[in-house]
Amino acid sequence: MAESSETILKLSKSIIRRYRTSDAAAVVEGADTPLVSEYMSASFPSPYTLERALGWIKIANEEGSLHFAICTIDSDVVIGACGFDHRTGVESRTKLIGYWLSPKYWGQGIMTEVITALSGWIFGQVSTLLKLEATVVEENKGSIKVLERSGYQQEGVKRMSVFKNGRVSNAVLFGLTRNDWNQWSQPV
Ligand SMILES: CC(C)(COP(=O)(O)OP(=O)(O)OC[C@H]1O[C@@H](n2cnc3c(N)ncnc32)[C@H](O)[C@@H]1OP(=O)(O)O)[C@@H](O)C(=O)NCCC(=O)NCCS
Repeated sequence: MAESSETILKLSKSIIRRYRTSDAAAVVEGADTPLVSEYMSASFPSPYTLERALGWIKIANEEGSLHFAICTIDSDVVIGACGFDHRTGVESRTKLIGYWLSPKYWGQGIMTEVITALSGWIFGQVSTLLKLEATVVEENKGSIKVLERSGYQQEGVKRMSVFKNGRVSNAVLFGLTRNDWNQWSQPV
């Protein structure tokens, strides 16, 4: 498949690209399950309707947005999402990374490759960026493994700070500074 100008990164297990309106049904197919929504923030739709997917694609394609689709290599179908929210004020040189993958594709190393590559990509794109952060519900062992394997360091635990679906959880804070990234990504 030819690389288009919408492509952000072509990886060995997936392609990261801008969304198209025609991706909405695939977003619903991948995201409309409690397996995905369980550990996402309260704003993540559940149920994830076609209307919500179209609304999200519109927001994700706004000027300055850093939200992208994760697609299969062979057929360019959306199977997940990744991107950054901008921090503001004194934290304006920090961005918050977020992601989800359709359960059909879990456990193949797809997200580890995405988060590693996307983190390096954003440090390259934004020269003033100092730090990436992620907040993970403590029970989300798969996501913690992804972050640790991508060089992120645990920075603290916010005890009992998450209440979702009737369950109280601790939130684990992860960070990757530009210096961490430079050291971590150097070949040994
Ligand atoms: C978290 C998520 C992105 C991981 O994606 P993925 O492509 O399956 O991740 P990877 O395959 O790169 O790595 C996951 C690792 O965690 C492991 N893992 C998954 N669940 C686990 C669990 N409950 N306990 C221990 N390890 C677990 C996997 O076995 C894998 O390790 P391995 O390669 O050594 O076998 C995916 O599960 C997901 O989308 N979850 C729902 C949404 C979500 O939680 N988003 C993140 C919010 S912070």
